Amino acid sequence: MFEKFSPIPPDPILKLIAEHNNDVRANKIDLGVGVYRDASGVTPIMKVVKVAEEYLLNKQKSKAYIGLAGDTAFNQAMQDLVLDQSVTDDSHVTIQTAGGSTSLRVAIELMKRSSNKVSVWVSEPTWNNHIPILESVGIGIQKYPYYDDKKNIIDFDAMMECLKRIPTGDVILLHACCHNPTGMDPTHEQWSEIAKIIAKRGIIPFIDNAYQGLANGLSEDAFAIKIMKENVSEMLISSSCSKNFGLYRDRSGTLTIISNNPKNNLSARSHLLKIVRTMCSVPPDHGCAVVSHILNDIELRKRWINELSEVRNRLKSMRVKLSEALNARGDDFDSSHLIRANGMFSYLGVTPEQVIELKIKHGIYMEGAGRINVAGITEENVNLLADAIIDVV
Ligand code: LMR
Repeated sequence: MFEKFSPIPPDPILKLIAEHNNDVRANKIDLGVGVYRDASGVTPIMKVVKVAEEYLLNKQKSKAYIGLAGDTAFNQAMQDLVLDQSVTDDSHVTIQTAGGSTSLRVAIELMKRSSNKVSVWVSEPTWNNHIPILESVGIGIQKYPYYDDKKNIIDFDAMMECLKRIPTGDVILLHACCHNPTGMDPTHEQWSEIAKIIAKRGIIPFIDNAYQGLANGLSEDAFAIKIMKENVSEMLISSSCSKNFGLYRDRSGTLTIISNNPKNNLSARSHLLKIVRTMCSVPPDHGCAVVSHILNDIELRKRWINELSEVRNRLKSMRVKLSEALNARGDDFDSSHLIRANGMFSYLGVTPEQVIELKIKHGIYMEGAGRINVAGITEENVNLLADAIIDVV
């Protein structure tokens, strides 16, 4: 059986972790995988997570399975957070998932069950795991234009033109905020236009909500979800707790489906549970239990919001720092888009060849298309980084 296989290339983002770890240069810089790092370059466990873990250690009485849909208190708290409002009727259904990626996978399996003809439209570019996940399900994949990499802006006209041609019943995968890989999000006005055309054409929005709270605030970052909800009759939202709770390896997330026909929603939910049962039997609990305890405790929730704003502010300030350092080295390299982007990522604006040169010559690691994770920038390395960028461009 196994001799039939020839090796396939490793995931490009995850491969960067190993390459960076194996680099012995002291001044190497990791701008690769999307994990947060603090000013000292460490991916910390949030203090509030430690408090919740201590609570669980003392109070948790059993490790028996939780239900297929996960924990009700977690699901409700996450749904309230994601929608920035509390809805408790069956028009909204949320289940617990093993991180955002499993949520995406479960949602796409549901789409495939609903119709063999449906296609999912992804932004060009999009997160490098979106297409592999879609391919694993064997669903149709189409692309809509999103980013103008000459001007470093959203190519809004081209996007809208394309949206006008998407067939009714197809699905559009949108990034709620902190678009991965470009960091460039639509304005509120643009989101309103997107929502209107999606509603008019009967396209189903499927929102990847992996970075809530990392752009402009928890409520602010729910804008796309709220405006979409006001306009459409059905939608799906995959949410992750990896980044905003720093729970990457604990695989915590949710899938929310919304329908203005609660009966349909409950039937769809029963299919979701069947998909979960055959995929991972029951969802993992630890990370979700931590999140649930934080969100449902007034004091801990406040502390989490504060810690999250520290994360957000550091990301913003590193964007400014890098842009200033580049500006100080002349005006050949336009870095103004770094400040306009949100969250962890930006397209730096370098070629794939320059990405390789930055790695080989300078020990600076970023994804192949020139996506940087700004959390890898520190006060200590920002000048080195700017020198290296100017050197290769
Ligand atoms: C990223 O885009 O770097 C993160 O979402 C991590 C991953 O799994 O790719």
